[in-house]
Formats: sequence, structure tokens, C-alpha cells
Amino acid sequence: MSSFVSVANANGVAAVTIDNPPVNALSFHVRKPLYEALIALRDDPAAKAIVIACAGRTFVAGADITEFGKPVEQPELRAIIALLETIAKPTVAAIHGTALGGGLELALGCHFRVADRGAKLGLPEVKLGLLPGGGGTVRLPRLVGAAKALGMIVSGTPISGGEAKAAGLVDETFDGDLLANAVRFASEMADRGGPFVPVRDRNERLAETVLAAFDAQAVDLAKKTRGLEAPLACADAVRNAITLPFDEALAAERQLFAKLVSGDQSRAQRHLFFAEREAAKVPGKDLQKRRIERVGIVGAGTMGGGIAMAFANGGFPVTLLETSEEALQRGLAMIEKNYAVSVSRGSLTEAAKQQRLGLFKGSADYGDLADCDLIIEAVFEDMAVKKEVFGKLDAVAKPGAILATNTSYLDVDAIAASISRPQDVLGMHFFSPANVMKLLEIVRAGKTAPDALATVTDLARRIGKVAVVVGVCHGFVGNRMLSARGAENEALLLEGATPAQVDKAFSDFGWPMGPFQMGDLAGLDIGWRNRKARGQTAVIADTLCEQGRFGQKTGRGWYRYESGSREPVADPEVDALIRAKAAELGIAPRAIGAGEIIERTLYPLVNEGAKILEEGIAARASDIDVVWVNGYGFPIGKGGPMFWGGLEGAARIVERLEHWHHSTGRAIFEPAPVLRRLAETGRWEG
Ligand code: 3HC
Ligand code: NAI
Repeated sequence: MSSFVSVANANGVAAVTIDNPPVNALSFHVRKPLYEALIALRDDPAAKAIVIACAGRTFVAGADITEFGKPVEQPELRAIIALLETIAKPTVAAIHGTALGGGLELALGCHFRVADRGAKLGLPEVKLGLLPGGGGTVRLPRLVGAAKALGMIVSGTPISGGEAKAAGLVDETFDGDLLANAVRFASEMADRGGPFVPVRDRNERLAETVLAAFDAQAVDLAKKTRGLEAPLACADAVRNAITLPFDEALAAERQLFAKLVSGDQSRAQRHLFFAEREAAKVPGKDLQKRRIERVGIVGAGTMGGGIAMAFANGGFPVTLLETSEEALQRGLAMIEKNYAVSVSRGSLTEAAKQQRLGLFKGSADYGDLADCDLIIEAVFEDMAVKKEVFGKLDAVAKPGAILATNTSYLDVDAIAASISRPQDVLGMHFFSPANVMKLLEIVRAGKTAPDALATVTDLARRIGKVAVVVGVCHGFVGNRMLSARGAENEALLLEGATPAQVDKAFSDFGWPMGPFQMGDLAGLDIGWRNRKARGQTAVIADTLCEQGRFGQKTGRGWYRYESGSREPVADPEVDALIRAKAAELGIAPRAIGAGEIIERTLYPLVNEGAKILEEGIAARASDIDVVWVNGYGFPIGKGGPMFWGGLEGAARIVERLEHWHHSTGRAIFEPAPVLRRLAETGRWEG
């Protein structure tokens, strides 16, 4: 026996327990003793049935992702499952917590599965750029039918124990002592007598499949994959399960898996999996956290309303403060409307909506914030207004309350310095819509207390956010890099590209949309106002705004939008404006290819990220990737700007940046020293 796998005999039933904290991943040091234990039990007359269960908080949550890309050590998971299928006595998986990926595949190797009603079962490999490589695509359809299996495998979304029972994936669900119930179940099965049919030989559900309907479903799913290979491979593999004999389908699954696991997209997605977890590791994480029970939000506009919803969705009571009763009612009405939309879409029940609305308390009196443990300011982006609000918070907030600003650009150190308790001040930079977007930049100011930072990082997770700690600078990590990405936008237009060409280069790269479509969506007036405040100009964008072309909301911006449609249509007026401005500046148009567009937008993005690293504004290159994938739509299959920069090759990026620096003289292209170092050593960090 090993410390990772133990066997106990309970009234003739062998209970095999896997114990590999934290998530019982199927690492080599688990697979080997598990395989050996199963061989011994297969041949042991004292064991009439076998239960596979797990210690700790979950059943097996998958293969060990850290082993991917390394030489495979035998026995592989597939061998364990094949062995299970040779066992004549009943085998039962006892599932609590999560049975994910290889964990569910292990369970599919058993004759029976029993689960806690609240357990989660799924094949999330697609989220790692993979498909289930341990027979999941071939066995799951045999239990739940091809259509249901396709949906589960392509989405990667797990289902509950109850739903799994209804779908035929689980034989019995239990509340209470799962292991005891599983042992009793296994014993009854053994007493009832075999033969026990392994999943591989259960073909009835598959035989029901209507191939044409399946193919139509697969085509629909394929439309949403935006250049990702894994969802398509998942659909192919499930189709093989329908059309090929079991062993051939299994072999085909293996081939597809091998191709994906060695590809850049899966590497990128695995990088992001670990990057998100690394980002949560902040100094002081183990400190005693401050108690957060009630959250105050100042400002019930676009952001304040969304932030309030994010906390209410996480179960926190919220006090929402506005300047007047009228503004408050406007904010609350918007929140109610948003929840009503969720109800009409079926993503929220009416009862849940009422329960959430019950968590809001509105006020126009700062005194009402005195019982809040965390107060987030989301008022106008104006330093004088922010300082005034913080002054009032300083007067009323309870000692130890955390005071946060949602500012996009302003100096959090200056805000902190304006009150008597800078140690309690930090930035919580949410993204719009704040109740939906997962990213939260937590801005650590010079004097922020480590326990305040640790509290907010912890809290972010509790409301389902992916948090990244960043330092103070103009625009922090995300918006600062966004400026770098957009710095050449107008120059590209003036030199001959059209907005549609630039946007197409972006969507071909995998972005949900390009910068001009994005500008139209967000509203061009926002950038215009910011530029004016900073004394900056943008020849074309400023002119569009002067003409009242603010984007979608006015029906015209970089594109035209016909009668309320969100579909951008290229506008000859805009092209004419661009050419006229170029002529005024004496710039002759030339053909600009997608390659140049990428070099002049995304190489500066990587370069600015490198400068951010150099300055210590981000702690790790992977933190920057987390920001960009979760907040700005950087394609997940490319792993974020810094990971992609590595794939693209730092040496190439430096060489092209130097080229553009030489030809334009613009500082945005001056390679960061850390990027040069990466080109030489292959490593971001020192
Ligand atoms: N392999 C290796 N490490 C894993 C892992 C895995 N499959 N799953 C989680 N971990 C690690 C995490 O990196 C983290 O490590 P850290 O503490 O050092 O940062 C630790 O376990 C805890 O993970 P979480 O912080 O994510 O813990 P949660 O409790 O929030 O979530 C979970 C638990 C829902 C199981 C979540 O970890 C998860 O979704 N894991 C991945 C599940 C998955 O994708 N499984 C499929 C793997 S691929 C596969 O099985 C291929 C097969 O088909 C052949
Ligand atoms: P908004 O204009 O929609 O809302 C601001 C609200 O603050 C208004 O309802 C206003 O009545 C209220 N307000 C102003 N002064 C106040 C005071 N003294 N006390 C109480 N309430 C007051 O603005 P928005 O877009 O919500 O932005 C708020 C902050 O969030 C800004 O700092 C902005 O930079 C930041 N931000 C905005 C994002 C966006 O996409 N809109 C994204 C991330 C951050």
C-alpha cells in the first residue's frame, strides 16, 4: 500500500481510497499503486466488490495537468480503465466534490457510479485546449446519449449529481455518508449477481442517435469556437463514438488528444489555468483577514450599479449611496432592470431576483455607510471629486473598514494620502459590466496594509472574480497596455488602412472584435473627453466626435449602424475623412497588410507589458496574461500577450520594434530592456 492509495475491507467489499491532496489528481504516484491495488483485488476472493473513493474535499479532479508535455510514465490512466473493465466483480465509483476529466473517465471505467447529490461531474478538458483523452468521448455517450455528451464535452460545463442521475451517468445519489452508502450499494450488486456489463459494451443509447441531428448540433457548436481547435476535435471524437467500433473510436480519440496536447493552443490554455491560480498568491495571503459583512458603494452609475450587483450576487448586503434621491432611484431601477433581463432569459429565477434585490439598501446620507466593512467609490473620474468623497468616508467609516476606489486611471497613492488612514486604501478596478466581467485589478498603493490586500484578494474569489494585484501607474496594467495597443491606430489609417481592415486583422487573430468596433461599442465620446482633459488630440477620432459620431449609441462612429442594428457597416464618409486628413498631413496612402497591423499594435502591447514588469507594476508576466484574457478579450488560445510574445519569439519582436522605432521615431516602439533580455535568455524574470 502507498500513502496515496489505501485499501480497506468492509464486509467483503474492498474500499480503495485515493488520497492525493488537494484535488486527488491522477499523478503517476497515484496511478501506479492504484493499478497494483486493482490487480490484487481483481484476483482476491475475499473482495466480492470494489469501491473507488477519495479522501479530502473531492473525488479525482482530473489527470495531473503538470505532467502534460512530459514523457508519460506507465501505467497510464487508459491502462487503469482497461484493467477495470476486465474485472468480473462489481466496481463502483463513489463521487463527492468533483469528478472531472480523467476523474470522471476513471469512474466511467467502473460498472456503477454513485454520487453525492451535490457533486459535480464533467469533462472540462476543452477548457485546457484538450479533449478527454481517457476514453471519455467514447464512454460518456454510451451512458447519456450522444447529444447530451456532445454538449457536456464541448462546453466543459459539469452537471450536478442529481442531473447526472437523471441523464443515466450516475446510478444512485445519496445524502450523508457516501462511502458507507457506496459500500452498501456495491454489496447489494455483488449479492444480486452478474454478469456486470462494462460501459464500453453498453450500446443502447448510442443506437438511438440520429446522425443528421447530431451533425447539425455539432455545426452549431462549431460556429462559436472562434478559431479554437479543441471544441472541433471534441465533436469529431464524439461522432467517432457513434460511427466507429469502440476500440477504433478509442484509438482515434487518443490521436486527437496527442495532437492537441502538443499544440500551442493547449499549452496556452494550460498556462492560463496555472496563471490564474498564481495570480491569487499574494504576499500576506495567510494573514488574518478582515471581516467583510456589508459592502458600501458610492455612486450608482454604470460601474457602481454593476459592482453592487456583483456583491449581491455573491450574497453580500450592499448599501448604495448617491448624491440625490433621484440619482439613487435611477441606479436602483437599472439594477432591477438588469435582473429582470436575467429572469426573462431564464438565467435567474424570480425568487432569486427578489432575494438579491432584498440585499440592497439605498441612501443619500454618508452616515449610512458607518456599518460597512468595505466601501468602494465609483463616482466621476475626477481627482477633486474622488478626494472629496474619500474625505467624507474618512469621517464616517468604521475603524479598519477598507476604502477602495474604482478609478480607471487616477493616482491611488494621491487619494490615499488625502485621508487619515492610507493603510486602508486600495484600488478595486472592476471592468464593465462589473456584474459580468471576471477580471478585477486590485491596486496596491504604497501604504496599503498587507492584510487589507489579502482580504480583498480573498473576497474577489468569493464573488467569482479573477483578481490580479497591480501597482500604481496611469491606467494600471490593463488600460495602460490598451493605450499602447491603440497608439498606432490612427497612424495606420492615415497611412492607408481602413477601420474594417484593422478590425479584420484583429478578429482573424482571435479577438472578439477589433479596436474600432470596440470604440464604437464603448462610445467614442469617452476617449474624446479623456483626451481633452489631458490636452491630447487624435485627428480622426476627434473629428468624428465633433460631428456627433459617438459610435453605436448615435448610430454612427467608425462605422454606420442601420436602424438600431449592432452590425457595423463600413462608411465611405469615414474613409473620405481619413483620406482628407492624410492629404492635409501630406501622407500618401499605401497598402497595409495584416502582418504590419499586428506588428504595430500587438508588439507595442507586449513591449508595454515588458515595461510594466520592469517597473514592478505587475509581479509576473503571467499576471499580465490573466488581465488581458479576462478583461480585454485577448484570445485564450494564444495565452495572453506575454505568453504569445514568447511564442512569437522575443528576438523577432525586438527586431521589428527596432525597425518601427527607427522608421517612426515613436517611443512606443523602443524595446524594453526586459524584452531584450527575454530575447537573449528566453525568460521574462531576471
Ligand atoms: N492537475 C494538477 N493540479 C491541479 C489540478 C489538476 N488536474 N486541478 C487543480 N490543481 C491544483 C491547482 O493548480 C491548485 O494548485 P495551487 O494550490 O498550487 O495553486 C490546487 O490544485 C487547487 O486548485 P484550485 O485552486 O483550482 O481549487 P478549487 O477548489 O478552487 O477548484 C477544481 C477545484 C474545481 C477541481 C479546480 O481545481 C479545477 O477545475 N481543476 C481542473 C479540473 C480539470 O481541468 N480536469 C481535467 C484535467 S485534464 C484531464 O483529465 C485529461 C484526461 O482526459 C486524460
Ligand atoms: P457614471 O457617470 O456612470 O457614474 C458615476 C455616478 O457617481 C453617477 O451616478 C453620479 O451621480 C455619482 N456621483 C458623482 N459624485 C458623487 C458623490 N460625490 N457621491 C455619490 N455619488 C456621486 O460613471 P461610471 O462609468 O460608473 O464610472 C465611475 C468610475 O468608475 C470612474 O472613476 C471610472 O473611471 C471608473 N470605471 C469606469 C469604467 C467604465 O467602463 N465605465 C470601467 C472601470 C472603471
